[in-house]
Amino acid sequence: MSRKLRFPKDWIERKQQKEKISVLTCYDATSAVLVERAGVDAILVGDTMGMVLQGHSSTMPVKLDHIIYHGQCVRRGAPGTFLIVDMPFGTYHASVEQGVNNAMRLIQETEAQAVKLEGADEDTLKIIRKIVAGGAPVMGHIGFTPQSYLSLGGFRIQGKSNDAADALIEQAKALQSAGCFSIVLELMPTDVSRRISEAVQIPTIGIGAGIHCDGQVQVFQDLLGLLPDFAPKHARKYDQAAERWITAIGQYDNDVKSGSFPGPENSH
Ligand code: KIV
Repeated sequence: MSRKLRFPKDWIERKQQKEKISVLTCYDATSAVLVERAGVDAILVGDTMGMVLQGHSSTMPVKLDHIIYHGQCVRRGAPGTFLIVDMPFGTYHASVEQGVNNAMRLIQETEAQAVKLEGADEDTLKIIRKIVAGGAPVMGHIGFTPQSYLSLGGFRIQGKSNDAADALIEQAKALQSAGCFSIVLELMPTDVSRRISEAVQIPTIGIGAGIHCDGQVQVFQDLLGLLPDFAPKHARKYDQAAERWITAIGQYDNDVKSGSFPGPENSH
């Protein structure tokens, strides 16, 4: 059995030992208990909560306080699992100072072991260096970066041309040099994520990036089939929870209306 991930160095050792890393998003304490019991290596309190929890069409409306609130809930439910919290849109681009202060606040208030932020341009690299120098581990995120979906022209696969693929490899190397302990690779061809994973010593964690990544991250609701009208290609539905839950809730509705709930066993 793989050793538990406690520190960033454990992530790098996993890659050296060629042992894959499982990461799952989670946003509440009840689900966090289940994720921890299932033995998933790390939990990401992602800004996907904007879409799968809050019902927005993108991650952009998510605020720092939302991540703090849900991060605290997850930490209570999964006290023994490596926890990463997302830095949402608009919380780290104004200045290095803004990024560092918000990263430190996230770590202090959620007791997460790391923050994740998107991009690898020169300004973002400066912020990452400063956060890491301040003692907070950083996970990078390149490829499709949902906080830039407007400027990227929608939810699109990245790195399809040779130049774009080469640029992604350079970004991954730059994130490694800036001090990231791992990098999310989102929506890119399998061959590109393979080249990136071979080019860096830190683990790559893929979502829609194929089998060659050093680990995978999935969104809780996608994995369990909780969204009846949404089935992204990159997700495998391990359950059909939406159908089963709709049936169960419908039975409750019928039982109340037919007078068969509560029964004697539910009554005092
Ligand atoms: O916000 C999120 O959940 C993410 C994952 C999809 C990687 O960034």
